[in-house]
Amino acid sequence: SKRFRNVKHLMKDRLPGKIYNILVEIGVLADQVGMNAYVVGGFVRDLIMKIENFDIDIVVEGDAVVLAKKFAKLKNAKVSVHYKFKTAVVILPDNFRIDFATARSEYYDFPAAAPKVEDSSIKIDLYRRDFTINTIAIKLNKEDFGALVDYFGAQSDIRDRKIRVLHNLSFVDDPSRIFRAIRFAVRYNFDIGPHTERLLKHAINLKLIDRIVGQRLFLEIKYILCEKEYLKALNMMKNYGILKFFSNSINFSEESLEIFKFLDKLINWYSVQINRNIEIWIPRFNLLFHSLKRGEFIKLLERFEFNSNYKKYFASQVFKSRNAAIRLKKNKNITNSYIYNTLKDLEDEFVLYLSAILGEKFENLIKKYYTYIKEIKLEINGNDLKDLGYKPSEKFKYVLDKLLELKLDGVILNKGDEIKYAKKLFEEIESGRNSGN
Ligand code: CTP
Repeated sequence: SKRFRNVKHLMKDRLPGKIYNILVEIGVLADQVGMNAYVVGGFVRDLIMKIENFDIDIVVEGDAVVLAKKFAKLKNAKVSVHYKFKTAVVILPDNFRIDFATARSEYYDFPAAAPKVEDSSIKIDLYRRDFTINTIAIKLNKEDFGALVDYFGAQSDIRDRKIRVLHNLSFVDDPSRIFRAIRFAVRYNFDIGPHTERLLKHAINLKLIDRIVGQRLFLEIKYILCEKEYLKALNMMKNYGILKFFSNSINFSEESLEIFKFLDKLINWYSVQINRNIEIWIPRFNLLFHSLKRGEFIKLLERFEFNSNYKKYFASQVFKSRNAAIRLKKNKNITNSYIYNTLKDLEDEFVLYLSAILGEKFENLIKKYYTYIKEIKLEINGNDLKDLGYKPSEKFKYVLDKLLELKLDGVILNKGDEIKYAKKLFEEIESGRNSGN
């Protein structure tokens, strides 16, 4: 059969020793059970493009479950098996994860010009995949370790910077590939090949996007929104007429582009200043669907099959953010305690969304919220109030909240002030001048 170039040296150069050794070990075990094992797909694509990607997908000619279990035993790892699909996930003690799949070599559902029955399983498995750039594998068995397996021109399409399907029914078989084509095109700055683009447009015209199940559709838009060049992707989606499959109310114009860019600037500031990882898709998602009214927005979340708790949570955060933005814009006299109370129930992802819609005029307000307002804490707590002789009750929360507001607004400065004002607030409550709620 065909002989391919060997990329063992590229692997040695580009991969961390740990990853390289895992691949060697899998090859050795595969020899022991008399199977062929390959690392496939994105890992190999990115390796030959010299882009870091350590998500290992193994395809086995033979039962992948057998090989996965053997490997897990060797590595003292956990393995979780899907017997029906003959796939397995191995989780190493350091939580590194490796996917094993049995080569899918049924040939009955192939369109014309597909591989022949006598072709190897790996070839048929690769032929089923989305784009030529993903139809590439590296053999791991000892004798051929590092041999690149490339039947469908993956290397040449990577060189040409082209996204191409393998056959005319690719988007019909799996319409989610419409989104994947766009995602890979913007990620690698590749073009969609002209024939593939015709097929893609045809699939869009046939409204095949409506057939994508909700959770899948959601993941595709989420992945796109996580890409660095997601704005290019959204622009392509607009030009192909894809955005209307989410909602007819989407407004993705030159003007909104500026708001997205401002959002990204804020996210940048946030990730430098605040050492916390955010779900970057969330503020982008909310901006993309900002022009949807409440009912439309909730319908969209239902199309995406958000479960009912998450749907409630997500929608409430979005509409709290929108309302907060309106109130902040109206308010002429914004105090620290007002900012605090307006933002305190919002997750950071939603505060960033809100900041983007508020615009540059409010940039400093948001920065002050994160660097100053959120840092202010009382020095006393419920125990101190008990020590002062008060009986724990719901009044404690009222008093402590009120004290924090006073502190945020600079009325009280230190522990002494806090105690003094605590007593005063309790007196007010007792004397009925203030109901406490
Ligand atoms: N695949 C496909 N059709 C799909 C989804 C996936 O043919 N609708 C194939 C692709 O060839 C891909 C492989 O399954 O190489 C693994 O899918 P995934 O992990 O989603 O793709 P990656 O190429 O690893 O992409 P990423 O870098 O975004 O993880």
